[in-house]
Amino acid sequence: MQQISRRIGNDSLARPQGRDWNRRVAAVKQLLNEITYEMVRTIAEGGMGIVYEANQLGAGQFRKTVAVKLIREEYSAIPEFQKNFIGEARLVADLIHTNIVQTYHLGTTDVGQYFMVMEYVGGHNVEQFLEKHRQLGRQVPVDLAVFIVSRVARGLAYAHQKRDRVGNHLNIVHRDIGPKNIMMGYEGDVKLTDFGIAKAFNLMYNEEGKVIAGKDEYLSPEQASYAVTDARADLFPLGIVLTEILLLKNIFRSPDRTQSRRNILSMPIPRFSSLRPEIDERLEAIIQKCLKRDRDARYQSAADVLHELEVYLYSGGYGPTNEKLGAYMRALFEVKEPRNPAIPPPPPPDPNP
Ligand SMILES: Nc1ncnc2c1ncn2[C@@H]1O[C@H](COP(=O)(O)OP(=O)(O)OP(=O)(O)O)[C@@H](O)[C@H]1O
Ligand SMILES: [Mg+2]
Repeated sequence: MQQISRRIGNDSLARPQGRDWNRRVAAVKQLLNEITYEMVRTIAEGGMGIVYEANQLGAGQFRKTVAVKLIREEYSAIPEFQKNFIGEARLVADLIHTNIVQTYHLGTTDVGQYFMVMEYVGGHNVEQFLEKHRQLGRQVPVDLAVFIVSRVARGLAYAHQKRDRVGNHLNIVHRDIGPKNIMMGYEGDVKLTDFGIAKAFNLMYNEEGKVIAGKDEYLSPEQASYAVTDARADLFPLGIVLTEILLLKNIFRSPDRTQSRRNILSMPIPRFSSLRPEIDERLEAIIQKCLKRDRDARYQSAADVLHELEVYLYSGGYGPTNEKLGAYMRALFEVKEPRNPAIPPPPPPDPNP
């Protein structure tokens, strides 16, 4: 706080005492400061922009590793995009939950390009996790598959019930649940990302000129048929993701986008235990209920899905934990010591001290 007082140039705050101090601190109304983000490396290029690992620089040697998503110039320039993107970013700014990638800041560069600063997750997304299994010819253990999806359900349950500062329900629906938007850290934490962004993006770029958010092979039937969605629309793709982790394939995916959407709407849903015998009746029942096309017959909330998955996982006693998933991730990707690559190693000792 003394540093702040110097920054705002009020010398009388320099050596405050007791109650007087509290009163003066409360008088500080606004702090203006420029934050510098230093890009360290490109993590990936997505449809909307490039995601970087970056350092957020502060006073002294302060540096914090963050992820920065720099939105493509061509999108940043479109007023409709700006409106939707900023609107959605505002909506999710206060989503603070261990199973959600936190948004720290929304900014514009000096050339008007939007960027979003997020919590950095050291690890991989679920798509990369599945690809690694395919390469190694291995299946994901059933309990870990259920654990991963239960953590996503946990994040969703929190977001779906989120209210604003005056208590109004925010009616947040993710609309783009899929393996690329689920991050898995080397410490075993599972985090959902890109909340609400799908809406901003897809509102403009739909071939049919209709509003449809999300990717074809992960749509809920109501999204695929252009109906108005509610939070239950996130539970169908959550079921798809669970089956994809268990089978290493999305049964609805077709090379033809329209066909994928048709599959979502009408393809007979298989019995998953016939595709992987370790899927028992209890798990089969949970999956089938997530994948009910009639949303009134589906689970009615992410909290219900979470409850059922946790009963499945833990009713027998000990079940999977973050620690177990973390150890599995590190072994899978052969990471010995998860280290933050943005923090340089200490300099070698001086040979002539
Ligand atoms: N906060 C983060 N920390 C670490 N890596 C991240 C973070 N956010 C995203 N990523 C990585 O960057 C990749 C690109 O993200 P982005 O959201 O731009 O595209 P995508 O989700 O892969 O695909 P799409 O273009 O369809 O959205 C993600 O797949 C993920 O692996
Ligand atoms: Mg994404």
